[in-house]
Amino acid sequence: MIKLRNVTKIYEHRELPALKDVSLDVQDGEYISIMGQSGSGKSTLLNIIGTMDYLTSGEYYYNDIAVHEMKGDKLHEFRRKHVGFVFQNYALMKSYTVFENVELPLLAGRYSGRERKKLVNEMLEFTGIRDLADKKVTRISGGEQQRCAIARLMVAGGDLILADEPTGALDHEMGIAIMELLEMLNKRGKTLIVITHDQEIGSRADRMIRLADGQILEEAK
Ligand SMILES: Nc1ncnc2c1ncn2[C@@H]1O[C@H](COP(=O)(O)OP(=O)(O)OP(=O)(O)O)[C@@H](O)[C@H]1O
Ligand SMILES: [Mg+2]
Repeated sequence: MIKLRNVTKIYEHRELPALKDVSLDVQDGEYISIMGQSGSGKSTLLNIIGTMDYLTSGEYYYNDIAVHEMKGDKLHEFRRKHVGFVFQNYALMKSYTVFENVELPLLAGRYSGRERKKLVNEMLEFTGIRDLADKKVTRISGGEQQRCAIARLMVAGGDLILADEPTGALDHEMGIAIMELLEMLNKRGKTLIVITHDQEIGSRADRMIRLADGQILEEAK
């Protein structure tokens, strides 16, 4: 599904590459964790896979689409269609309610109000926050905000979930609960790539990739 070949990323005004000659294959429906020290290139790698950032050289194929050749609207469309992001800080709209945040991706489509409501409520049910629908997201806990972010990405569709330290701001128990939710989506067929500093969380994946100085040091399992 994802094929990276000799991907190098050099940020402007930086001497050392953030990624150096990285090659990686990810199968459809796989669950992968990325570990490594701060600055090792984890977020850079995830952002390139999610097309939030451009690679400097190398090739990136997604189901045989040459992503490294795409630009502008095409790239935007690719991201919208395929990629769901989960961040440590949830990236929700602060002045909106839980319901409104989850509804957001649907507003651009051809859904009636009734259809939107049905879909959003289903996802809130799935993530266990249905009773919080009318609360402002600033009034709920971190774990609940992360559930809201996950409900939103489910509504948006997409076959690839990229999570950059999704449990980083949560206590251990809440972190595991969020991972279980993401893993349920993986079991339903979505490809899941998770960055984590937590060995226990990292080892839950089918495959663990360790980065050091912008290179893949080892793959485990
Ligand atoms: N926008 C940027 N401009 C310049 N340099 C950057 C930029 N983003 C990252 N870097 C550099 O690229 C390298 C890799 O950064 P990256 O954010 O990928 O690391 P990381 O493994 O995600 O670290 P952390 O665990 O702290 O999040 C670092 O040296 C970092 O300083
Ligand atoms: Mg990072």
